[in-house]
Amino acid sequence: MIIPAARGGFCLYFYFIRGSSNGRTAGFGPVDRGSIPCPRANMTSHEIRKKYLEFFQSKGHTIIPSASLLPVNDPSTLFISSGMQPLIPYLLGEKHPGGKRLADSQKSFRCEDIEEVGDRRHSTFFEMLGNWSLGDYFKEEQLPWIYEFLTNELKFDPQQFYVSVFRGNKKIGVARDTKSARIWQEIFSQAGIKAKTVDHSERDGTRGGRIFYYPETKNWWSRSGTPDNMPVGEIGGPDSEVFYDLGAEFKLHENSSWRDQPCHINCDCGRFIEIGNSVFIEFEKTESGFKPLKQQNVDFGGGLERMAMIAQKQNSIYKTDLYINLLNKISQLVDGKKYHENMKPFEIIADHLKAATFIMGDDRGVAPANVDQGYLVRRLIRRAIRCGRELGITASPWTAEIARIVIKDYESAYPELKRHANFITDELDKEEKKFMITLAKGESMIKGGKLNGEAAFNLFQTYGYPLELTEEIAGERGITLSRDFPLEFKKAMAKHQALSRTASAGKFKGGLADSSEETKKLHTAAHLLLAALRQVLGDHVTQKGSNITAQRLRFDFSHKEKLTDEQKKSVTDLVNRAIQAGYEIKCGEMSLAKAKSCGAMGVFEDKYGGQVKVYTIGNPSTSSEPPFSREICGGPHADNTADLGKFKIIKETSSSAGVRRIKAVLE
Ligand code: SER
Repeated sequence: MIIPAARGGFCLYFYFIRGSSNGRTAGFGPVDRGSIPCPRANMTSHEIRKKYLEFFQSKGHTIIPSASLLPVNDPSTLFISSGMQPLIPYLLGEKHPGGKRLADSQKSFRCEDIEEVGDRRHSTFFEMLGNWSLGDYFKEEQLPWIYEFLTNELKFDPQQFYVSVFRGNKKIGVARDTKSARIWQEIFSQAGIKAKTVDHSERDGTRGGRIFYYPETKNWWSRSGTPDNMPVGEIGGPDSEVFYDLGAEFKLHENSSWRDQPCHINCDCGRFIEIGNSVFIEFEKTESGFKPLKQQNVDFGGGLERMAMIAQKQNSIYKTDLYINLLNKISQLVDGKKYHENMKPFEIIADHLKAATFIMGDDRGVAPANVDQGYLVRRLIRRAIRCGRELGITASPWTAEIARIVIKDYESAYPELKRHANFITDELDKEEKKFMITLAKGESMIKGGKLNGEAAFNLFQTYGYPLELTEEIAGERGITLSRDFPLEFKKAMAKHQALSRTASAGKFKGGLADSSEETKKLHTAAHLLLAALRQVLGDHVTQKGSNITAQRLRFDFSHKEKLTDEQKKSVTDLVNRAIQAGYEIKCGEMSLAKAKSCGAMGVFEDKYGGQVKVYTIGNPSTSSEPPFSREICGGPHADNTADLGKFKIIKETSSSAGVRRIKAVLE
């Protein structure tokens, strides 16, 4: 699985900040000043989101809705974790029906942050406000616009702004970003701020600088991180990040190595918070180094939760209006326990159940399960329940009550949550009951005189049984834990993680995101396959998912029974006949209504202001016959079916209830 950049971007996620006394940041509340905070919300989060979209609309951008949280046609990751991910084909040069300037608020989920939640600065689910130039405007427009939005619209204090730019690296042939540094100089000078530009140095703190050159470990963005970590075919580029200074007394992360020494704007001490990141996506990694893309793109992403935190003068994202109703509900359920005395479990419950609600409430939503995305949903819910038990919640079931608040808080921005409300609450009730049984089972297995860490890991792995709970029960029962208990648990966990990484690397390697010729051909073959399946099996067949690498395609579709050999042969023959016919693949843009009326298959979300791209294969448009295949799709595709070679089904299996899976190749 490709992990989003392990630096820059939003990976140094929300910072923990504390009240200020120096006047510059006056207004930020102290950390532990009361039970449930009351946001001094002169601007609500919904208003910030709206202002952002309207601002970019006024700069000629088309507002597009958030893509699904579960990727479509992108096998590189289980969830969408940044705004650019659903737009990769367009960053590579595909034409977008919304034009060359786009903006949105993208639902995002970063599962790698799951263990960090509870420190007041991490969340697994967040909204990323994004704007894109698809080969249109570049640095000269982007940097002043972001500054204008933050200072004019959100009224953030320019005196508190610090920025970073890319230092350049001869080895990869990418120059120092003096252009961005000069633009920032000009911006600051217009605001009456003398901005010194310095090369970041680990030891010397900020040295009075305001614009900092950082190396690629900080100021380079791609889905897989630094230039070295990027696989061949991956796109990325230098970035410029904007930070907000919360004041020296905010520097209090207990575990930060910067706590007692001069820190810098991109360290993890808590003083500076990154507000947004403008990535200049202009390179593709090739076997022989970095090659310029055919267009220079801008990919900006800013965390709504962080912006709300600053706008609402709070010292934690959990004290903004995006979490407050959840915290209130939890405090009602726990009967007397205070949020400020139990921040970690309160925040885990709020974050995890919000994330699970969004994943289940997506139009491509999934229920808790033992594999893939469903496994993450299960893990989120169970961890929240476990924290609920710790806090002494006795109501049962209770998780759906939290989900109802998430739905209510967000339904105006994400109406799909309301559409799937029953599914969400039913699944939560079911999962909660199942977990209660599991907990009881696990308890019955913790017995005997001694327990080692490996056995505890097996309980965790098999029954989702948390380590702390095993330790707690063992303690209650007088069971001795082996001397190396934590080490044994860690070792067993590391072994398991290495195995699952290997499995998921194999499972999700490559994909349509790479737009290579082979991948394009297999993508076209997937369209032919859907059309053939519908001809052979019937109109009930719709696409449920796909995963396309340069080597093979994997295609999930709605159908209850196993395919017979005869059906497989008919489907294969139909696809191969369409290939032999040498059909040109035609792409047209039309309104969604027109696409529907001419029988195009696909997800009928009202996207891109009603304009969609439709790919048609087979039969000239003059014919009254329907084409062989017609689908709403973002592309890219082969030019002609004759380029595809011979189609062959390798495997046909069940994927989940009522869904079959075909693996196929082109030979
Ligand atoms: N892709 C960049 C990030 O996630 C900017 O949107 O930080």
